[in-house]
Amino acid sequence: MADEVPAELRTGIALIDSQHAELLRLGRELMILLRDSNSPDVAFRILSVLTGYAHAHFGIEEEWMERLDYPDRLAHRAAHDAFKQELRLLEEEVSNLGLATGLGRSLRLLLPDLLLTHIGQHDTRLAAFLRAKGVVEGDQLKSTTPPAPSAPDS
Ligand SMILES: [Fe+2]
Ligand SMILES: [Fe+2]
Repeated sequence: MADEVPAELRTGIALIDSQHAELLRLGRELMILLRDSNSPDVAFRILSVLTGYAHAHFGIEEEWMERLDYPDRLAHRAAHDAFKQELRLLEEEVSNLGLATGLGRSLRLLLPDLLLTHIGQHDTRLAAFLRAKGVVEGDQLKSTTPPAPSAPDS
């Protein structure tokens, strides 16, 4: 699963890298389903899982940013919000219009690419900050454990 994230985009923090790998796996699975499947229900289910997982993952990063006063947290949070909005729009399209338009939208979105861009622009910098703050030991976050992933915040 770790292979989902290119080496140069790994943060070196196991929790974050494994969640990125799962997000990318779900994103790719969804792209394939939108392209090949005749079943909007299956695509919709994967999209829902991806959305829930993305919300939980973003929530963890945001908790760490807030907790440690990360200087770039507003821009990073805004990037999360934009991604969540794209997922919402895609969900709406798949749910209301089926796969044909969902496919059009997903191709515009290129979800996995969008995720990789986000990781490269924002998450690798956050990881470097966390390391500089001394809250990372080896490849693990230490001491203050962020809250468990929460339910999507709507
Ligand atoms: Fe992330
Ligand atoms: Fe992020």
